[in-house]
This record gives sequence, structure tokens and C-alpha cells, in this order.
Amino acid sequence: MAETARMANAAGKTGTPGEPRLVIAIDGPAAAGKGTLARRIAAHYDLQYLDTGALYRAVGLAMLRAGLDTDDEQAAAEVARKLDVSLLQDPELRSIEAGDAASKVARHKAVRAALLDFQRDFARQAPRGAVLDGRDIGTVVLPGADVKLFITASPEVRARRRWLELGGERADTPYEEVLRVVKERDARDASRAEAPMKPAEDAHLLDTSELDIDAAFQAALRIIDARIDARRNSDA
Ligand code: CDP
Repeated sequence: MAETARMANAAGKTGTPGEPRLVIAIDGPAAAGKGTLARRIAAHYDLQYLDTGALYRAVGLAMLRAGLDTDDEQAAAEVARKLDVSLLQDPELRSIEAGDAASKVARHKAVRAALLDFQRDFARQAPRGAVLDGRDIGTVVLPGADVKLFITASPEVRARRRWLELGGERADTPYEEVLRVVKERDARDASRAEAPMKPAEDAHLLDTSELDIDAAFQAALRIIDARIDARRNSDA
């Protein structure tokens, strides 16, 4: 019961009078462009943005650096509970290795539990509302979010985007390796028992395989604006 109230509050509509808060959940597989999209959406509606993947990456990176086994749930949960937030700015956070370690520690229930309140508090405390992106935002972290988007693209398109991000031809990792890792990480994220990656029942699916970032952004705005209008009309 308390949990339900807390979740309702996280996606609450109790912001500035006359201006309801807006909470947006964005989920989807690796390198689907969620981060870029989420940042632009947050700037457009003047909302706060949280990249929840960075939290899991920071736990994974800390484990790798300390030489700890990512299969060790207790050790991973301890790292998550005492998360060193300076790691969130670490350039290595975006590496393939940190992403891989992130999805290994993200399987553990105790790790997810340790990071849950931080994510919900972030959404609850943002004065005008917030955009969170990840894998389980619409299903677990903020089931009461006003708008839920599930961003996808084919594995090949996503791997190519990630490979270009890593430096393309100048990168140490060949495209085929990026594709392999992306597929492996998606399979792990989608098949885990705890908060698996999946679209919420009320999520809007947005396939960006054929869309550049501007077109994806415009498509997302149409969905969000329609929701804002519907909410306004139902309040009137
Ligand atoms: O940026 P990219 O799409 O490659 O991944 P990310 O969002 O940085 O997430 C890294 C990993 O953290 C994912 O593969 C998931 O295993 C995990 N994660 C999660 O389990 N739940 C979230 N809400 C966010 C990330």
C-alpha cells in the first residue's frame, strides 16, 4: 500500500499550480538512442534527466576496478549501496567493458533494490518532472509515469551507431564485435528474472531503424504532446 502511494507520488501531478508535472519513462535495448532522445526531450519540456544505465555502469566499473566477481551478488550490492558518484563522470563509463559488467551486475535483485529509491526519489523531487531512461523504468521504477516510450532499432543499426560512437574505423573494436556484444547484452537483459527489459503494456513503441535523431525526436514529441493534450482535456 505504502509502495503504491510512493509510486503514484513518483509520477505525481502535484507540481506548480496550473502546470502539472510530467514524468516520462524511456526504455529499450542497448544503443537504441534512448540517451540522446531523453536529453532532448528533457530540454524541450524543461524536465530533469536521469540516465539510469549510468548507475549500473558505475557499479560494474567499480567491480572491475576492484577485481571483484560480477557474479557475486553480495559484493555487487555493497558497491551499489555505497556507490561512488564521481564514477558517473568517468570517461570509461561508456566503454564496452563497463556496459557488459553493468548488465551482469544488473541481474542481481539486491543491486536493483539498492538503486531503486535513488531513481524514484530523483523523479519525485524534480520540480517540473523528469525523464528517466533505462530498461525497467516503465515497468518497475515508475509504473505510473505519464508517458512511456520503448525505443528500438534493429541490432545491426544499433551496433553501427555504438561503433561510430566508439570512433568507427578509428575504434579498437571492430563492428562485428560490437554487434556480438550488443546482441549478447540484450539477450541477458531481456531474459533475466529481475526486472527484465520489456515494454510496459501501455508503452508506445518507437522503432528508429529508419529514423535519424531529429525524426525520432519529432515522433516522440507527437506522442508526448498528444498525452499532454489528453490530460488537459480530461482535467477540464
Ligand atoms: O547506453 P546503453 O543502451 O548501451 O546501456 P545503458 O542504458 O547504459 O545500460 C547498461 C546496462 O545497465 C544495461 O545493459 C542493463 O543491463 C542495465 N540497466 C538495467 O538493468 N536497468 C536500467 N534501468 C538501466 C540499465
